[in-house]
Amino acid sequence: MLHLKIDQEKCVTCGECISDCPVMVLKFGGDGYPMVRKGKEVTCLQCQHCLAICPTGALSICGKDPDQSLPLDNLPDEGQMERLIKGRRSVRRYKPEPVDAAVISKLMAVISNAPTGKNNLQMMYTVVEDAAVMDKVREATYGALRKAVDSDSVPPGLELFKQFVELWENKRVDVLFRGAPHLLVASSPNGGPSPEADCIIGLSYFELLARSMGLGTLWDGLAKWAMTLVCPELLRKMGVPDDHTIGYMMIFGKPAMKYHRTVQRDGMAVINRVEL
Ligand SMILES: Cc1cc2nc3c(=O)[nH]c(=O)nc-3n(C[C@H](O)[C@H](O)[C@H](O)COP(=O)(O)O)c2cc1C
Repeated sequence: MLHLKIDQEKCVTCGECISDCPVMVLKFGGDGYPMVRKGKEVTCLQCQHCLAICPTGALSICGKDPDQSLPLDNLPDEGQMERLIKGRRSVRRYKPEPVDAAVISKLMAVISNAPTGKNNLQMMYTVVEDAAVMDKVREATYGALRKAVDSDSVPPGLELFKQFVELWENKRVDVLFRGAPHLLVASSPNGGPSPEADCIIGLSYFELLARSMGLGTLWDGLAKWAMTLVCPELLRKMGVPDDHTIGYMMIFGKPAMKYHRTVQRDGMAVINRVEL
């Protein structure tokens, strides 16, 4: 049930909710107010565009109270966004102290708003919150790599991992996880239209939001290769479902240093402007 409710005292019958519905679920009823078209309940994507676009907050759907939405009159401006995007960095030095659980919960709640290829798709973010658990993940991963090296079963292309194990064992240099206290694994159910993209988008949002909160992150391809190719059983033990695509992994924590300015990238991405 969509539970569409119109507060007739607030509704100005502008029809924006009807026009913006991507699947034309709504129409004006005989009383002049928006209503659900007969038989169209099942078509609803539950995207809540109707609730978001209502200028007077008169529309409730799926049990959502429009007064509980955040107002959109104070978005970060272009300059702030530019500084955030240009000012993010790959952080490879972390303080050992963990990020507060409440801060991690806030990050998770906000990135759950990232778009996915299918509305209401159940993405999963597997997060290592406890730094002691992260140490176990680290040990287990290097342990699995050691076994792979000793049994000559390092997957092709990952030969360099032998050096990473040795650095860890001999010098406690952690190339895979950079000593970070936290790991985030983004996964999405197989069979969805875009599992990899869903994960990358979610982590991209995570990275920027974390940066705005003074945290550091690193896209961790090395950890992804090591864990998915050499010790998938560890990921299983961590609760990542077998029927999920692991889109990417990211380490994060409180940075042990501070960047004071942006870098200056030479050249832009190639922009191919189409003229047909
Ligand atoms: C998909 C992806 C995977 C990456 N994997 C690693 C990694 O495993 N280890 C690492 O140290 N850096 C990794 N990086 C970081 C890049 O090397 C980094 O973006 C590059 O050095 C530029 O630095 P910046 O991010 O500070 O601008 C990765 C970046 C991306 C986007």
